[in-house]
Amino acid sequence: MDAFIIKGGRELQGTVRVHGSKNASLPLMAAALLTDQAVTLHDVPDLSDIRNMTRLLGTLGCETDRCDTDPGRPITIHATDQTQTAAPYDIVKTMRAGICVLGPLLAKRGKARVSMPGGCAIGDRPVDLHLHGLRALGAEISLDAGDIVATAPGGRLVGGHVFLGGPSGSTVLGTANVLCAAVLAKGQTVIESAACEPEIEDLADLLTQMGAKIQGAGSPRLVIDGVDELSGADHRVIPDRIEAGTYVCAAAITHSNIRLDNFPTDALGAALDRLNAIGVEVAPVTTDGQPVDRHRGSVTVNTADTLKPVQVFTQPHPGFPTDLQAQIMSLLCLADGNSSITEKIFPDRFLHVAELLRMGANLTRNGPSVVVTGVRELIGAPVMASDLRASAGLVLAGLAAKGTTTINRVYHLDRGYERMEITLQALGADIQRVKEENL
Ligand code: UD1
Repeated sequence: MDAFIIKGGRELQGTVRVHGSKNASLPLMAAALLTDQAVTLHDVPDLSDIRNMTRLLGTLGCETDRCDTDPGRPITIHATDQTQTAAPYDIVKTMRAGICVLGPLLAKRGKARVSMPGGCAIGDRPVDLHLHGLRALGAEISLDAGDIVATAPGGRLVGGHVFLGGPSGSTVLGTANVLCAAVLAKGQTVIESAACEPEIEDLADLLTQMGAKIQGAGSPRLVIDGVDELSGADHRVIPDRIEAGTYVCAAAITHSNIRLDNFPTDALGAALDRLNAIGVEVAPVTTDGQPVDRHRGSVTVNTADTLKPVQVFTQPHPGFPTDLQAQIMSLLCLADGNSSITEKIFPDRFLHVAELLRMGANLTRNGPSVVVTGVRELIGAPVMASDLRASAGLVLAGLAAKGTTTINRVYHLDRGYERMEITLQALGADIQRVKEENL
């Protein structure tokens, strides 16, 4: 296993191009199961989750081709064999997003067998809303030996009316699954309390390009008129708002000025609001009277000398994303006063707290909230990455800390950040990837 060794305290400078979104790419790739024609996606990041999705689609009769010499690194997925309907446990267990194939398989092939995803470090993560939504479209669903077994009676789903809200709001991948199922269902489907995340809008964009009839994408009410078949498409994935937000925090925590290209300003409204209140200015780069591109533009990040404390509540989009909670916690560890962070999506997503304490942070957890009392400095220490975004938070803490931080188990980080250490090295950070056994 790999580890990162970070010698903190370096100022960063330079430019980072934000990669395409991981969380958008995974359901987009699964949507290729909905057609017999090829679907080409540009700007899919090179990550272990993406490679696992490619493997999964391979077992489901898809041929995949990636061209790494083209700057957009297009990946073409062609479902040439529509007979396979079982997604094997050994691949689905590696990433929750494996569940994304359930809706497309059921819609296109009339049946699906997909391993029930287990819990993970950030919580239980049920899929009851996914199943509730698919049942509303006529699917018959049972559980067999840990697998979800779903069938569309007569081979085709029928449109229905479904409410997808749960205790913590809507469900992102659940909305993706039901949307993908509805586009080929007979008749109209209405999804109430649909997820409004930009990744769902991106999925609706691809499906529309494939011939689907969808209204309301990006709002909590989706109206879908089913069609008989879908065609191939050529689509560019949206920039990764979480990677973008992480690099803003990297600049802020090291008091550096950097530039970010392919930056999705509009998708980061709540995060930029909190960062602004902390004293982090993210300003668009304008060129010769051109309008500012708020979807894939360029920005500079400038940080005040003193970071101000703030309150943060994670919420479904357009609220503050839970996937940036660990990163902003690291930043607030160095603010001048008491901040509070309340997790409204995954109330147990705080495994990074214990690791930050090892670095000298002053944190008090009370159920789904953490009071962050700013300290003058963080101190390097050996810490353990527990999940993807917690790992990113620890890297940020390491960049700012005095001395050396060793982060073990960075395979978590590799699931969601393409070669993060190379990006940070290019900005001037002292960060090395090493084998844990060599430590
Ligand atoms: C997606 C993202 C993940 C992000 C999360 C919340 C991907 C690959 N992953 O995960 O990075 O942290 O959105 O923004 O896109 N819930 C239920 N029943 C369900 C499904 C979910 O109660 O059937 C609950 C969850 O426990 C959680 C909340 O709903 O409290 C939101 O989860 P959900 O939006 O489904 O997360 P994912 O789509 O799995």
